[in-house]
Amino acid sequence: MEKPAPGPDRAKYAAAEKALDYVESGMKLGLGTGSTAAYFVDMLGEKVAGGLEVVGVPTSTRTYEQARALGIPLTTLDEVERLDLVIDGADEFDRRMNLIKGGGGALLQEKLVATAADKMIVITDNSKRVSHLGAFPLPVEVVQFGWQHTQKRIYDLICGSFVGGVDIVRRMAGDSPFITDEGHFILDLHLKKIDEPEKMAWQLKELIGVVDSGLFIEIADMVIVGKDDGTTRIVNHRPPLRPFR
Ligand code: 5RP
Repeated sequence: MEKPAPGPDRAKYAAAEKALDYVESGMKLGLGTGSTAAYFVDMLGEKVAGGLEVVGVPTSTRTYEQARALGIPLTTLDEVERLDLVIDGADEFDRRMNLIKGGGGALLQEKLVATAADKMIVITDNSKRVSHLGAFPLPVEVVQFGWQHTQKRIYDLICGSFVGGVDIVRRMAGDSPFITDEGHFILDLHLKKIDEPEKMAWQLKELIGVVDSGLFIEIADMVIVGKDDGTTRIVNHRPPLRPFR
């Protein structure tokens, strides 16, 4: 696989490449979704072709198709009790490694897979690091039935408990609503800043019609931050995750 020239793609590539150090034969791996995760899946495909023995659980149809085409052995979440590791991208991460995910619309499967994994490594670049989550619109997955009622409940919650106002936009794919792999809509909440992400995550989750939000609270164990020059920096919990190589 060709290394991209210095710049944002090189940063994603570098983060994905570094994540391979944490993968060893015999692992059950969650495979994330998005452009950074796609680099990782490509690289994993090369390693599998070279003899690495892993089995992957994809977090979206997109990743499933990519991994299958590369010959990575795949299974479903229900066929494994636990995963050893999930490697996925993020739209934002803060200093506590809380995340916003779902920019690619796969937040539900991503969260199901991440919470079934012993460890989560986030591969990302410096542009995703924030002091407060929320500049990136927060995706919330909602059932289609009565979605405008759900939107109103979300609006009331945000205005009543968090900030004075919020723009909520149903995500589109061209002229039609975007539909997730699970058959739901996504509402993008333009919040600008989230002061209490834990509280917001739980309160959103309690609303009828909401399936889940893109807030990943205390799920990530490590963030690999790729830089445009191809170097990486690691943000880690204590005790830190150790590479196998
Ligand atoms: C998909 C996601 C992605 O991980 C997130 O959008 C980051 O994507 P990219 O690596 O393309 O910036 O959450 O639902």
